[in-house]
Amino acid sequence: MSEQFSLDGKIALVTGASGGLGRHFAGVLAGAGAKVCAAARRMDKVLQTVAEIEATGGQAFGVEMDVTDSGSVAAAFGLIEEQAGPVTVVVNNAGIAGGKPALELEEDDWGRVMDTNLKGAWTVAQQAAKRMVEAETGGVIVNIASVLGLGVSKGVMPYAVSKAGLIQMTKALALEWARHDIRVNALAPGYVETDLNREYLSGDHGQKQIKNIPQRRPANMTELDGPLLLLASGASSYMTGSIIAVDGGHLVSAL
Ligand SMILES: NC(=O)c1ccc[n+]([C@@H]2O[C@H](COP(=O)([O-])OP(=O)(O)OC[C@H]3O[C@@H](n4cnc5c(N)ncnc54)[C@H](OP(=O)(O)O)[C@@H]3O)[C@@H](O)[C@H]2O)c1
Repeated sequence: MSEQFSLDGKIALVTGASGGLGRHFAGVLAGAGAKVCAAARRMDKVLQTVAEIEATGGQAFGVEMDVTDSGSVAAAFGLIEEQAGPVTVVVNNAGIAGGKPALELEEDDWGRVMDTNLKGAWTVAQQAAKRMVEAETGGVIVNIASVLGLGVSKGVMPYAVSKAGLIQMTKALALEWARHDIRVNALAPGYVETDLNREYLSGDHGQKQIKNIPQRRPANMTELDGPLLLLASGASSYMTGSIIAVDGGHLVSAL
């Protein structure tokens, strides 16, 4: 069974790997045998991710990438190929939140979230897929969506819309790219404490949200490891266009 989940010999890219879930995911993929490319804008933090992985005996290297800039994404893929070879596992994790009541939102608030969470994920997925098609390697793309792409909450409208879009994009790309042996799936985590939401979760609204989760707590990062590895490895060889929620039952909480 463990062979099915192995990523031995794979080159795996994790975007937004300078902290939070991305740093954790990079370690999980390296632990499963992948050579991991950790990517983000803050190279000092990316290099910390690389050092953590190397300290545990894994293989990793870092590359600077701004997912909102297609030139930066293309350049990063070029560097990765030069250094390691073709990427066949992509975790599209880079994302930002930006919470405000909808009546107070400004054009920039909308644009920043969409550019990163939605357009950024597409830019990375398309760059990866073009290279997978050309090299005839096939591959897997795991989009990190959110329960907020499946349900709604107050004060996070652009974020929720971006994640709903990412979920629909996952299905659309899965449909188009199956013939190239590229599988595209999404993980939709519930709340996991990171820099993205630490302040929110400790506030009144966040505490109320946590009480509303049937399991009555946020996730530990390690509780995402199994679902992530499933989607990133051959263990999910007959899954594409699937969305896996990992949310302590949040999406089925009572009305
Ligand atoms: N934490 C949760 O409860 C939760 C729940 C559901 C889904 N998620 C999703 O999980 C993903 C990671 O979230 P997190 O909680 O780990 O957030 P985080 O701690 O704030 O980390 C976000 C990461 O995204 C990177 N990033 C942001 N803008 C970028 C850009 N333009 N180009 C490249 N990288 C960029 C940041 O790196 P740089 O600033 O160095 O570029 C950072 O590494 C996000 O997509 C988020 O929506 C999180």
